[in-house]
Amino acid sequence: MSDQAAIGLIGLGTMGANLALNIAEAGHRIAVHNRSPDKTRAFHEQAGALRDRIVPTETLEDLVDALASPRTILMMVPAGAPVADQIDALVPLLAEGDILIDGGNSDWTDSRDRATALGDRGIGFLGLGVSGGAEGARHGPSLMAGGHEAAWAAAETVLTSIAARFGDVPCAAYFGDGGAGHYVKTVHNGIEYADMQMIAEIYGLMRDGQGRTAADISAVFDRWNGAALESYLVEIAAEVAAVIDPATGRPILDVIADRAGQKGTGRWTVMDAQRRAAPLPAVEAAVTARVLSGEAALRAEGEHLFPESDALPPLTDAELEGALIAGKILAYSQGFTLLSVARGEEGWIMPLDTVARTWRAGCIIRSAMLDDMATALEEGTCARPLAFAPTFAERLRAHVPALRRVVAAAVAAGLPVPALSAALQHFDQLRQSRGTANMIQALRDRFGAHGFERTDRPGEGGQHGPWVATDGSA
Ligand SMILES: NC(=O)c1ccc[n+]([C@@H]2O[C@H](COP(=O)([O-])OP(=O)(O)OC[C@H]3O[C@@H](n4cnc5c(N)ncnc54)[C@H](OP(=O)(O)O)[C@@H]3O)[C@@H](O)[C@H]2O)c1
Repeated sequence: MSDQAAIGLIGLGTMGANLALNIAEAGHRIAVHNRSPDKTRAFHEQAGALRDRIVPTETLEDLVDALASPRTILMMVPAGAPVADQIDALVPLLAEGDILIDGGNSDWTDSRDRATALGDRGIGFLGLGVSGGAEGARHGPSLMAGGHEAAWAAAETVLTSIAARFGDVPCAAYFGDGGAGHYVKTVHNGIEYADMQMIAEIYGLMRDGQGRTAADISAVFDRWNGAALESYLVEIAAEVAAVIDPATGRPILDVIADRAGQKGTGRWTVMDAQRRAAPLPAVEAAVTARVLSGEAALRAEGEHLFPESDALPPLTDAELEGALIAGKILAYSQGFTLLSVARGEEGWIMPLDTVARTWRAGCIIRSAMLDDMATALEEGTCARPLAFAPTFAERLRAHVPALRRVVAAAVAAGLPVPALSAALQHFDQLRQSRGTANMIQALRDRFGAHGFERTDRPGEGGQHGPWVATDGSA
């Protein structure tokens, strides 16, 4: 048997180190490299029983030499310039047929361009979305691949062997050429923003509107995790709410500053959605909320200027749970609609049921509901919103009344629930056969002669109103 490694990995940070151990544990020989050799040595020394399957290398040349041909190298370095520099440094050392995989959170358009540029040089490329954080990387992430199909065929065995499994099905799939994999990962992260924001909003109503303790709130999330909301994020919401800060003896949630970080994938999702005219207001609201979370001084000034607020009208835990269920369905529905539009525009394979299947385990938004979403999307609803699929329409009929009561109560009390209300507003627009854009068209025609279509002459655009200008002229 050859001593050559099946795969190489660059970047032994949080994700790279855990993925390397996962790959070795799955039985593959792996060569690893970090720009600081000390880190590579330390990683190898601490690899325990997996040491023998790990080849530490100090230079990129050593890394390339350690790999079986065609060589496959997984890069786990920060997106942007580090990936570009890494590719530039590697290309002269590679031969035709070798494969580069970018497993960072790269912008999908960068991956699209890299696939083209590397393809022109005969080098295979995969833009690989990896989700699951450190734990997922170590024990089974969700993997979303895009790029050259031949590169996927070559790397599939290794990648599938380390992926999370839902039952017997690995959560790893190829979604199409160019940046398809990173696109799916970006939308995943956008949905993750909405999911977390909605959890935070419900937490806020319990904390600020109902005056409940973190321990009580933890127990509520824990109960919900045992039913329709069963998911990783609700599970860890219950967990973090129960933790006590050793330094102060207070719930850790009460000592964490209310400023949320972000690395850009939520914003990318929103920008791309607007560009494609497939907006996802729940994600937009979540991204905006993160931005405003950073404006602590402004919010403090606002509270000082406008301190008035009313008591939160009574809400049951069942209503709060129902609101979260409905909000979640609507946010995911918006996300899948965006994927459906992008798939059509980019010519990606990207079966939406496979996307949902790939998210069922390993990734941050994993949940029991995604399995039902996969089934609903398989039934061919992808041309219409997921919310209209029979099983989800039924759930919305059951839970939207709770969402409506929760949003109304929050608005009455002046407690912000931007993502929940954005999801509800979008839903209400979707179920209004005669909306109010006729007023917009009338205004546009009145001030700019933009023309409109009449309801009694469908298909005939460019109609104008019998407007009388304010100076009396017609
Ligand atoms: N953390 C997560 O939960 C998560 C989840 C999914 C995806 N990701 C993505 O995965 C990628 C890696 O994330 P991470 O959390 O593992 O980051 P990390 O812990 O900061 O590790 C980054 C690694 O990249 C190396 N590196 C940094 N700049 C470099 C450069 N210019 N050239 C070569 N190597 C460089 C670092 O080397 P040194 O040790 O020498 O600094 C380190 O090994 C990112 O794109 C991230 O967005 C992260």
